[in-house]
Amino acid sequence: MKIDNIALIIAMRSEAAPLIEAMDLKKQDGAFPGKTPFEGYDGSYEGKQVSVIVSGRSRVHGIDNVATQPAALMTFLAIDRMNPDLIINAGTAGGMAEHGCRIGDVYLSEGPFCYHDRRIPLPRFREYGIGSYPSVDTSELAASLGFKRGRISTGDSLDMTDRDLEMIRENGAVIKEMEAAAVAWVCEMMEVPMFAVKAITDLIDRSMSTEEQFVANLHLAVSNLQEAIKRIIGFDGL
Ligand code: ADE
Repeated sequence: MKIDNIALIIAMRSEAAPLIEAMDLKKQDGAFPGKTPFEGYDGSYEGKQVSVIVSGRSRVHGIDNVATQPAALMTFLAIDRMNPDLIINAGTAGGMAEHGCRIGDVYLSEGPFCYHDRRIPLPRFREYGIGSYPSVDTSELAASLGFKRGRISTGDSLDMTDRDLEMIRENGAVIKEMEAAAVAWVCEMMEVPMFAVKAITDLIDRSMSTEEQFVANLHLAVSNLQEAIKRIIGFDGL
């Protein structure tokens, strides 16, 4: 399939800003319904139509609309309004040192996307809670561009309980973050191909707190993410 029109779903303004600047994308006024906080930027990069959709600020709390609810809604609106051939969910994530993750690494998703914090212990609802939504096969892209690949597990918390960690392991995941499965759920429903690109800010199986690691490493991870996305969009085989 030829990819001409790519939409990137990004939760935090600080994750998106360097990319918007580097690709010289322009803000699209009126891209989304008036009362929604989402922001759309678009332009052309390496011969492809590229849109970046950012979650915007919470009117109540004044910070970025991170996590699964806004991610699902903005993905749906992006598909409805921009009709992309491909959705890429880009952002930062925690990684598992026990699987070789290092701060600043960029990972491409290896499906399926799962949740580690939706526990519904009833027949078949259990599997529904965990989810299982496909990723585009990123093996050629990763091999050609030299990125790591790993399975991603999503939840609505930056920290985690012991049970969350157990479920991340049960999901076979290497990466923990807060949007990808929600984006993938909408993409599966709407039949739009999707994968995720995540840069590691923190190691979830190390003793230093996630928040401290996240703040200390955000700049490095976002810079690596931006370089990676430009190379991915410019890749001939995409
Ligand atoms: N984003 C960056 N690090 C994360 C983590 N450890 N958990 C969830 N989201 C993250």
